[in-house]
Amino acid sequence: MCGIIGITRGPGLDAGECEVLDVLVEGLARLEYRGYDSAGLALVGPGGDDPLWRVRAANGTRSLDDLTKRTEGAPADPSAGIGHTRWATHGRPNEENAHPHTDCHGHLALVHNGIIENHVELSDRLIADGHHLESETDTEVLAHLIESHLAAHPDEGLAGAVRAALAEVRGAFALAVVHDSEPDVIVAARRVSPLIMGVSDGAAFLASDIPAILGLTHDFFILDDDRVAELRPGVITVTTLEGEPVEPAPLHVDWDLDAARKDGYDDFMAKEMHEQPKAVADTLLDRLLPDGTLVLDEVHLTNEQFRGITKVFVVACGSSYHAGLMAKYAIEHWARLPVEIDISSEFRYRNPVVDEHTLVIGVSQSGETVDTFQAVREAKSLGAKVLIITNVVDSSMAREGDAVLYTRAGPEIGVASTKTHLAQITALEVLALYLAQVRETLSPAEARGLLDAMGSLPDKVAEAMTRGDAVHAVAERFRDSPSFIFLGRHVGYPVALEGALKLKEISYLRAEGFPAGELKHGPIALVEPGTVVVCVATRTPVWEKVIANVAEVKSRGASVVLVANDGDEETARHADEVLWVPATEHLFAPVIDVVPMQMFAHSMARLHGLDVDRPRNLAKTVTVE
Ligand code: M6R
Repeated sequence: MCGIIGITRGPGLDAGECEVLDVLVEGLARLEYRGYDSAGLALVGPGGDDPLWRVRAANGTRSLDDLTKRTEGAPADPSAGIGHTRWATHGRPNEENAHPHTDCHGHLALVHNGIIENHVELSDRLIADGHHLESETDTEVLAHLIESHLAAHPDEGLAGAVRAALAEVRGAFALAVVHDSEPDVIVAARRVSPLIMGVSDGAAFLASDIPAILGLTHDFFILDDDRVAELRPGVITVTTLEGEPVEPAPLHVDWDLDAARKDGYDDFMAKEMHEQPKAVADTLLDRLLPDGTLVLDEVHLTNEQFRGITKVFVVACGSSYHAGLMAKYAIEHWARLPVEIDISSEFRYRNPVVDEHTLVIGVSQSGETVDTFQAVREAKSLGAKVLIITNVVDSSMAREGDAVLYTRAGPEIGVASTKTHLAQITALEVLALYLAQVRETLSPAEARGLLDAMGSLPDKVAEAMTRGDAVHAVAERFRDSPSFIFLGRHVGYPVALEGALKLKEISYLRAEGFPAGELKHGPIALVEPGTVVVCVATRTPVWEKVIANVAEVKSRGASVVLVANDGDEETARHADEVLWVPATEHLFAPVIDVVPMQMFAHSMARLHGLDVDRPRNLAKTVTVE
């Protein structure tokens, strides 16, 4: 997830009214939540070292400051400019990989958010044709591809070259391109990744989201998928990839800046929950091949090394631990490897039995949690192979691991993990299937069926997200209950733990998660008339046992809320309230079943008037032991 921005303005405006550099820098600052590994911009116009001038910096959160200190040689009065703030996916977060990327001769500059899936085959061809590519990114090929089309058909202009280039591209993109031969034109295009545009008298703008350019206009257009836009001062024209003119959809926005940063949601947690389908889809992107096989590019362990693994350890904290617990079921079931899971702060001090045949998987959203960092370091020193699952490229843990599998959820601001949690479960399930593939523990037909089911997860998560009002009504019914018990069996157990953690961390209510079968060994003493029991009762092989455990609490007067699969009236008969979710293959169910748990906690916290993004006593990243 990166942020892009662009502005073109006519000579009629005073520089003070709409100074290109200021618009870009301020907009990039507002886009930094999308990533801040590096930043860069390109300006077009006379009076500088070059008609197209570029500056880039890769200094983490200080990148933008660095840019503003390095403007010597920039055009004195630029007519157009584009900017980018990066969240690295392909290529390290250094200056060479920072956007904008240019063509061979520095006449064209391009910024991009998304992933170009066929970048390797395109760059091989371009290099063979004599192009010189400098970065490790998937993006740079676009600049050279457009350059080659522009050279072949100069009469079709920059927009024509962009259309022709995109016809060859697979993947996701929101991009903006400038060329010094058309100094007041920006060409933009979009597929999947977001891109909005705005227009005012004598200027036109584009950005990854509205807050970046709010204040310059309140009238926006959303660029649809597979559309190419030409922005000129005061005018925007849009075509299909084939060049057919189309009218872009207008959007008037009255939000203030604070609301706009949250895309109109009341808080970041709500926004991030709604980004979950995309987080899951992006985490699967280019790892599932159409022929039914899995590829893990960033995992630098050979298949031979994977085959030599005899035991797996997962170490993590909090929600990441729950994701790891879910993975235990999947790895054992599909790959037939024994899996131990431990809380990171416990693992390190118990003299764990690991050796060179052990795979230790460290799971951490931030990649900086010191408990998990120390645990994987300990494992490495004991000779284990270490694989890190994290959301942050080049984080401390990513650097420590023998291999890294990135979740691609984009930056998460709310303290309560939501979209990164779903992305972690997804990545771990991908890894489990990969281990099964390498170890040949699943038949091709079984693997194909599972991969198909996995591909449908983003849509099912999106469907689960539509049930917010119904979940809110259940939270309203139980808003005055002082304590909650969360139950689940098998993969429903970590979902119950996560449901309890979410509720306690943002609504400060007593909430405990238990394996449903364990209740009768003690915790059932807590149940009395009025106790609210939330239980995962979706259809898994242990469904009947779960329903028997539900009967045990119901007969003691508990109010029962069941998470059930759509249309499962048999389960609903055992419930006072139902949280409905779409069904899926049972080992994938946590990805979907946890969604109503998050929404329930969110609704409850809001009903109690609490700040869900900044819960008391908590920090997003815990860097102390
Ligand atoms: O960055 P990490 O995934 O290593 O963080 C681990 C926990 O601190 C984190 O999951 C915490 O439990 C969240 N607040 C849960 O919402």
